[in-house]
Amino acid sequence: MSFAQANRGGKLRVLEGERVRLRPVEDRDIPQLMEWEKDADIVRWAGKKFETVEDARDWHLRPTLQHRTFAIELYDGRLIGEIEVLNITWKTGTAEMRVFIGEKDLWDRGLGEDAIHTLVNAYFTMTALQEVFLRVDEDNIRARRCYQKVGFKAEARLTAKWEDGSMRTLLLMRLRKADQSRSGSR
Ligand SMILES: CC(C)(COP(=O)(O)OP(=O)(O)OC[C@H]1O[C@@H](n2cnc3c(N)ncnc32)[C@H](O)[C@@H]1OP(=O)(O)O)[C@@H](O)C(=O)NCCC(=O)NCCS
Repeated sequence: MSFAQANRGGKLRVLEGERVRLRPVEDRDIPQLMEWEKDADIVRWAGKKFETVEDARDWHLRPTLQHRTFAIELYDGRLIGEIEVLNITWKTGTAEMRVFIGEKDLWDRGLGEDAIHTLVNAYFTMTALQEVFLRVDEDNIRARRCYQKVGFKAEARLTAKWEDGSMRTLLLMRLRKADQSRSGSR
């Protein structure tokens, strides 16, 4: 199996973290994921991705060689958010990551860190991926702190137009497999 094909299934199907499990998004998850996309606190930072249920289904239920999304759930089966790798370029071993915890009462408990750590470790260990980058609003202190805990470092700062037309300052953060091996995993 090629590394690219591994993205579609196999060992990357279900990933077990310390406190959360990452599993394929299922049709039954779509209504809740769409509901969270209406939450102003989440949309403010994570943006709104889908206009229709069909678009959401297409993205979440049909992984490609370039993207894959995972439901984040607690070990009691409660869906709490979603994490994805996208814009995967297998030739250079780079990909982007996006994440949100939809259950706001569960923010700041280390669950985001666990989900991200679990995802990047699995991809670094089981595929040819060498680095993961992400974009985060400079004002999103919670997310920045979470990413820092996993080892992401800010590499660039850019001003970009947001979906509502406002200008935002974004940080481009990156985690490299080589850096992670040097600092040691948890
Ligand atoms: C970003 C997100 C995924 C992080 O998940 P999480 O489970 O809340 O993150 P963690 O608990 O692992 O880490 C958050 C850290 O920020 C810290 N934090 C929160 N608010 C803070 C503030 N105002 N100042 C400083 N630190 C703050 C928390 O204390 C925690 O750090 P600690 O573990 O050292 O105490 C989640 O909060 C979320 O989905 N937010 C809304 C959507 C979003 O921002 N998505 C990311 C878009 S780039």
